[in-house]
Amino acid sequence: MIHSLFKENIQDILDNIIDEGVHMVDSSGVIVYYNKFAAALDNINPVEAIGRHILEIYPSLTEETSTILKVIKSGKAILNYQQSFKNYNGLLITTLNSTIPIISSKKVIGAVEISKDITEVKKLSERVVDLQAELYSESRQQKKTDQSRAVYTFADIIGTSEEMLKLKKNALAVADSPSPVLVYGETGTGKELLIHAIHNASSRRNKPFIAQNCAALPESLLESILFGTVRGSFTGAETRPGLFEIADGGTLFLDEINSMSLPLQAKLLRVIQDGNVRRIGDTKTIHVDVRIITAINTSPTKALEEKTLRDDLFYRLSVITLRMPDLKERREDIPALVQHFIKKYNTMLKKSIKAAPKDVMDFFMNYTWPGNIRELEHTIEGAMNIADGSLINRGNLPYHLLGEFDKTPKSSEKEIKPLKDTIEQLEKQLLAEALKKNHGNVTKAAEMLDIPRQTLQYKMSKYKLIEYSAEK
Ligand SMILES: Nc1ncnc2c1ncn2[C@@H]1O[C@H](COP(=O)(O)OP(=O)(O)OP(=O)(O)O)[C@@H](O)[C@H]1O
Ligand SMILES: [Mg+2]
Repeated sequence: MIHSLFKENIQDILDNIIDEGVHMVDSSGVIVYYNKFAAALDNINPVEAIGRHILEIYPSLTEETSTILKVIKSGKAILNYQQSFKNYNGLLITTLNSTIPIISSKKVIGAVEISKDITEVKKLSERVVDLQAELYSESRQQKKTDQSRAVYTFADIIGTSEEMLKLKKNALAVADSPSPVLVYGETGTGKELLIHAIHNASSRRNKPFIAQNCAALPESLLESILFGTVRGSFTGAETRPGLFEIADGGTLFLDEINSMSLPLQAKLLRVIQDGNVRRIGDTKTIHVDVRIITAINTSPTKALEEKTLRDDLFYRLSVITLRMPDLKERREDIPALVQHFIKKYNTMLKKSIKAAPKDVMDFFMNYTWPGNIRELEHTIEGAMNIADGSLINRGNLPYHLLGEFDKTPKSSEKEIKPLKDTIEQLEKQLLAEALKKNHGNVTKAAEMLDIPRQTLQYKMSKYKLIEYSAEK
């Protein structure tokens, strides 16, 4: 029942997909269906397009470059294919396409193409590559501008707990090695900070530091960004260097490497193994000297089990493995981190917060911090934005943490009182004891305490100890 309804409504369903273009052609290449998004993407009126040949609508394509015509010929699907072309209005757009043949009685009767518009993402990522290339270009180097984009050093990594001292020592020891490093740890533990510090402590510090997040881009775009392209390697491709070439002599930091597709991981492994990159569509290879540092925010065991990381790549990348401890494993670093962030945001927010009082510190020390240092930092930043005195108070904390705050056990430490109060309390206690021992005899008690009798009498009235006196 639902099946036949689905079939009846399929056109409505396709028309209402708002972020993917869908178009269908028959076996001769004539367009038979266009959904609204595809029409908008290509700037075509579906009424005009239907009934016309695909090459008439896309004049920049040919029999050889049109994926839809290729699929009709071969009967085989082409998945996740990146294509750049001029649309009907002459605008250059880039799409990520999957083209699937429609087969009936073993004959190809047409094909459907599903397209995602990645024009903007592509433009932005290429702009980032261009900026990085410009930053490290020879003319800039001659001007001796600050080359490294790795801004943090080991001095910026707050923490003197045993775990952090060990980590910093190991990271420093391997900083200058060309071997790959894999850094893993939960989100917000400071992986990126450590990787910057490693680059800055190495002899590559004046060479490029290129960071790329592997989760941010579709596979085909990431591949062209990493390895580069030559003109004509795919429709609309231009000749561009990839990040490997730009990072030559320096460090390439690949973040969230386990988000990269497995086939691309295999290609990456080949490049890392022999140091030779081939731009997509090129015949020659270029040798590069790049140190690879990767990061994942789960344990490698989990990534291998879940098959998000190829094991052959893992063995290559994990020559040196560094684990960032969770914040809850090194609570003794919390006071120094709190002070560090208070200082940072005093400058940034033009405030003069001095500290977090004891109840807030007790909470900071006891909370589990699932977002680790990033969560601590933003909690302090948020609280300081609204704090109006010189302290961060309970009321300045975000609402979602208040329940946790109220559950915090009160610390067993004695409350520190002003010294004068403590001394007076002790003095009163000693005087009372001396008087008791001497059955209220003031002269004898004064002798025992080795103070003049008059002084004792004065203090007895100050502390209201008259009831101990036998000389009332
Ligand atoms: N030891 C530290 N000392 C001072 N600031 C730190 C420290 N560790 C982390 N931070 C700060 O905490 C924030 C998060 O750190 P970072 O971006 O390095 O985390 P990450 O491990 O890369 O997280 P994710 O997995 O989410 O990318 C940053 O603002 C960073 O400056
Ligand atoms: Mg990070």
